[in-house]
Amino acid sequence: MAKLEESPRSLPGERSMQGPRGGGTGPGLSPVGSRTLLICTFILAVAWGQMNFTGDQVLRVLAKDEKQLSLLRDLEGLKPQKVDFWRGPARPSLPVDMRVPFSELHDVKDYLKSHGLVYTVMIKDIQVLLDEERDTMARSRRLERSTSGFSYSSYHTLEEIYNWIDSFAAEHSDLVSKICIGNSFENRSILVLKFSTGGSNRRAVWIDTGIHSREWITHATGIWISNKIVSAYGKDHVLKKILNAMDIFIEIVTNPDGFAFTHSMNRLWRKNKSSRPGISCIGVDLNRNWKTGFGGNGSNKNPCSETYRGPAPQSEPEVSAIVEFITGHGNFKALVSIHSYSQMVMYPYGHSLKPVPNHEELFNLAKDTVKALHKVHGTEYTFGSISTTLYTASGITVDWAYDSGIKYAFSFELRDTGQYGFLLPASQIIPTAQETWMAIRTIMKHALRHPY
Ligand SMILES: *[C@@H]1O[C@H](CO)[C@@H](O)[C@H](O)[C@H]1NC(C)=O
Ligand SMILES: *[C@@H]1O[C@H](CO)[C@@H](O)[C@H](O)[C@H]1NC(C)=O
Ligand SMILES: *[C@@H]1O[C@H](CO)[C@@H](O)[C@H](O)[C@H]1NC(C)=O
Ligand SMILES: *[C@@H]1O[C@H](CO)[C@@H](O)[C@H](O)[C@H]1NC(C)=O
Ligand SMILES: [Zn+2]
Repeated sequence: MAKLEESPRSLPGERSMQGPRGGGTGPGLSPVGSRTLLICTFILAVAWGQMNFTGDQVLRVLAKDEKQLSLLRDLEGLKPQKVDFWRGPARPSLPVDMRVPFSELHDVKDYLKSHGLVYTVMIKDIQVLLDEERDTMARSRRLERSTSGFSYSSYHTLEEIYNWIDSFAAEHSDLVSKICIGNSFENRSILVLKFSTGGSNRRAVWIDTGIHSREWITHATGIWISNKIVSAYGKDHVLKKILNAMDIFIEIVTNPDGFAFTHSMNRLWRKNKSSRPGISCIGVDLNRNWKTGFGGNGSNKNPCSETYRGPAPQSEPEVSAIVEFITGHGNFKALVSIHSYSQMVMYPYGHSLKPVPNHEELFNLAKDTVKALHKVHGTEYTFGSISTTLYTASGITVDWAYDSGIKYAFSFELRDTGQYGFLLPASQIIPTAQETWMAIRTIMKHALRHPY
């Protein structure tokens, strides 16, 4: 806590730079010392590019009861901005995964042990996975350059994805167009791909990936699915029927500033990059910034929290761009908002335990969706309403969509269940995308057959 108040101003990546090499901004340092140290750390990080997560671990805790869950919640208060929950404390049946910086490991493990909380080490050294990921990307990039191709089985930077969007839309202009729906906080274009066989203002399906920037598997899945739509149209008679009646819109990089930052500086950045005068922490959790249930349980008013909701509903340009686009269009019938990880298909509400009016229909559709997904590679998903399956979360995309009249609103959590978490190896991109496609196709087919 002391640290935050001492921070004279916000620096990009500041909060996570208190790991192995950024440590030392403890209460013993004067504000000036702390500032100097921060700036030095910042310069080092810039010089070396990506932040270094050497020795950081992901620990999994299975809480036995509510009391143990609240001990885990307390950890956030005890170690502000240090313990990064990959899967927050929700309910006793769900594991809690947290990234702990090397410098905090000893303390945190002591805390867990002294309170009888049993943990396992899910990832022993995060940097090892990051190095592998970077090497794999570099290898793939060399191959892409030499063949002038685009590899759907690797991760890409924002620039690479935006270049791909341009050439993809140009190459398939009979079916695909690119729309800019706004600009991000750092003024990057917010792009949407539109798949349409004509007509005007047809019923429409919305898909977004990457609202949380570190969930790289979601962007890669959005890209693969976009390509799948053009390659399967003409062969897949269900898809053909869907596209003859409806348009599909895909926003691949829903949080472009955050995504650029995951490449340039901090691979594990979740929020957007907005900053405000007088507030030392950066970023809003864009999946807590929507109007429906804004400010409720399962969102945070502390700007330093990973689930900071922002100062007001739709305060973030990334969110308001979608709201304006979807509202302006007025004919969206289905929406799928894609996250990772946990392997879940969920529907509203997140902010309340109250079942939605068509709860039973959504339950059955989620069941069919998970079945279709499972058929592809045998991957097991759970399903249900967000508040009963995962946790209470307020101000989220799908609650807003539902209350805005989009009856088929779903949120996915893609692979895996924690072995790699957000650092899913690129070798799993295509299988993940293939199964996710069948899941989305199930929802689109249902929307097609149940017009409203
Ligand atoms: C990260 O830090 C470790 C030790 O602190 C060092 O051995 C390693 O070379 C660093 N890696 C990078 C990419 O800077
Ligand atoms: C933001 O980018 C657009 C182009 O995409 C440009 O026209 C505009 O001037 C930029 N605004 C700012 C504040 O830099
Ligand atoms: C990020 O969040 C800030 C609020 O902290 C907001 O002002 C800004 O517009 C957001 N950026 C994007 C790209 O949404
Ligand atoms: C939030 O949670 C508390 C405690 O569980 C509960 O009393 C309160 O009614 C909840 N608030 C909302 C808006 O659901
Ligand atoms: Zn997410």
